[in-house]
Amino acid sequence: MSNVVEDGNKYSMNTYNRGNMVIDEAKGCCLKDIEGKQYLDMMAGISVCNLGHSHPVVVEAIQQQAEKLIHVSNLYWIPQQIELARLLVENSFADKAFFCNSGGEANEAAIKLARKYSYKKYGEKRNEIIAMTSSFHGRTLATLSITSNKKYHEGFGPMPEGFKFANFNDIDSVKAGMTEKTCAIIVEPVQGEGGVNAAEEKFLKQLKAVCTEKDILLIFDEIQCGMARTGKLFAYEHYAIEPDIMSLAKALGNGFPIGAVLARGKVASAFSPGDHGTTFGGNPLACSAALATLKYILREKLWETAAHKGNYFKEQLQKLVEKYSWVKQVKGKGLMIGLELEIEGAPFVQRMAEEGILINCTAGKVLRFLPALIIEEKDIQRTVETLDKIFGESALSQ
Ligand SMILES: Cc1ncc(COP(=O)(O)O)c(C=O)c1O
Repeated sequence: MSNVVEDGNKYSMNTYNRGNMVIDEAKGCCLKDIEGKQYLDMMAGISVCNLGHSHPVVVEAIQQQAEKLIHVSNLYWIPQQIELARLLVENSFADKAFFCNSGGEANEAAIKLARKYSYKKYGEKRNEIIAMTSSFHGRTLATLSITSNKKYHEGFGPMPEGFKFANFNDIDSVKAGMTEKTCAIIVEPVQGEGGVNAAEEKFLKQLKAVCTEKDILLIFDEIQCGMARTGKLFAYEHYAIEPDIMSLAKALGNGFPIGAVLARGKVASAFSPGDHGTTFGGNPLACSAALATLKYILREKLWETAAHKGNYFKEQLQKLVEKYSWVKQVKGKGLMIGLELEIEGAPFVQRMAEEGILINCTAGKVLRFLPALIIEEKDIQRTVETLDKIFGESALSQ
């Protein structure tokens, strides 16, 4: 184990705070480190392995496809890619899909598509995109520009132009920021890194109305909240409105890297050959993994499971809110859950790991839970009981 950590510190760029854990194996909701210690995984790779680790349908799809064809360039039609596009289109607002390899890339494509649509219709001056406070959209330069936390920008300037922020859940702030240059608005229907904040229904409806009125494109980033996690296949379904563009990644391939941008036909047609592309995007192996994942989600209606188990989880967590004065509130939708504290959450993440349960903390004070959608109630119960125990140890509880 120590070799990996020592070599990691020596040979790997220092971009993550990793501690000493070396993970070697995983199945379902159980992770095993290199010394054989088991952990209950309540994060699913940060909302990636929604079917659980190494789900048999995904493993089989990858194995079979790897023997047949791993990669071919997008100079040719790829049957798995087209089938995946059809399935995503048939189960969403969209008419067309574009595939890439990550969330950041999906949002880059969404930005380019929105700008190209506006350029073709209104000329080059209409190119500004409004993002929300507490947003997180990725680490590339353009997606950093729509990620509100300034700590991520430091030292990477100058940032690309044409992006600004409005207050999340505040339609007046959005309207105040709109000008004749605004071409799109980007929102996470449920913000992940910003603290597990669900958009208010009224806000998204007002946003949709103002976008429709001014032909401004509404982009939903469902990279973390999509793929059945919040109790619907896509989070926008909670709000009875639809976006013009949506970005997906994370759980789309259940761990195999793949991202996608979906769009309405009138918007999608803004891209012509040569406008956008990526070598690996939508390759046969990635699309086979995603196809197996999506078919399983659809067949099992996994969003219903997420809604049901999410309600149970939230009910249990609510008891901690009632018990501890410094535990503020339970937030989120389905199995995308935050427990907001009045104090820093990081020490509790550490204590939970010592107890063999992996959770995380976001926005400083929000403990975040993103388990696989197949999580069992007994594991939810164990998580809450363990939290109760470690909360009880806190000096604030004495
Ligand atoms: C909402 C959202 N958008 C975009 C991203 C960036 O995705 P990736 O890390 O795959 O580039 C993330 C990653 O956490 C995310 O949560």
